[in-house]
Amino acid sequence: SWTMAGFIDEQIEKIRAEVGDKKVLLGLSGGVDSSVVGVLLQKAIGDQLTCIFVDHGLLRKNEAQQVMDMLGGKFGLNIIKVDAQDRFLSKLAGVTDPEQKRKIIGNEFIEVFNDEAIKLKDVDFLAQGTLYTDVIESGTDTAQTIKSHHNVGGLPEEMNFTLIEPLNKLFKDEVRALGEELQMDHELVWRQPFPGPGLGIRIMGEITEDRLETVRESDFILRDEIAKAGLEGDVWQYFTVLTNNKSVGVMGDYRTYEYTIAVRAITSVDGMTADFARLPWDVLQKVSSRIVNEVDHINRVVYDITAKPPATVEWE
Ligand code: XMP
Repeated sequence: SWTMAGFIDEQIEKIRAEVGDKKVLLGLSGGVDSSVVGVLLQKAIGDQLTCIFVDHGLLRKNEAQQVMDMLGGKFGLNIIKVDAQDRFLSKLAGVTDPEQKRKIIGNEFIEVFNDEAIKLKDVDFLAQGTLYTDVIESGTDTAQTIKSHHNVGGLPEEMNFTLIEPLNKLFKDEVRALGEELQMDHELVWRQPFPGPGLGIRIMGEITEDRLETVRESDFILRDEIAKAGLEGDVWQYFTVLTNNKSVGVMGDYRTYEYTIAVRAITSVDGMTADFARLPWDVLQKVSSRIVNEVDHINRVVYDITAKPPATVEWE
């Protein structure tokens, strides 16, 4: 009978047989899929695997460090981490259009990855965390692209890789079970969905280092309070958005004129449709007062009570 442990052994055998003594490259995103592929490959072929982790500077607070600690530290993966925040921010300077942002981030991601990949010698294989659902979706031309998702990257043309996609028969919940079986950290295995363009599409208007800090800190507070309230498992996705809206407030004797943070928390099965989560008022109250008190440039917090459709999950 089919078991996850059996699946792991089978995949390890298969990967070893295919790869032999050759080298494999893997792009890590910080998400569960590529991480599971990394740990699986590490078990199968050890140091024949090299990972490239492009930190575009648009990740959540502490996220890059957690990836390095767990995958590089605990599991011993050989990871080249590229700190590319400056490169991304300079390309994004002045850009406010959501799709333009996505395009720039997606293209830059591929470029940074390729710049690193090209330095590596004698790599024959490229591993990817493609899921069964990705296979189905890219196989249908009726698949509607409302927002361009950039997960399926372009390969360097001069590099002739053979693809290794050990998850391409699995659904997301099976990948999580696989991660559990591989003893990966619960926090990573059950990580909420996070878009490839990261915090870049949670900042309305221009992306600057300052504005990134604002959305990152407010997001951290929201996640902290959701965790403290034990609600992580009840909510599909939760995050904050830095709006482009300024409003008047009062702090002590002073009038303020600052930005608004929107809190988005949804319940969903697959992200295709969603409802706003009925978070307890006292949790929302804590989140609101902490954000206004602890995050610079914010004097107002609102809760997004829109379903998808008609709204989308993300604001951009
Ligand atoms: P929307 O906003 O389209 O989001 O209702 C549905 C799900 O997809 C995620 N999302 C993205 N994921 N690249 C990604 O990899 C993107 O550009 C992107 N846009 C949205 C979103 O977080 C939600 O889980």
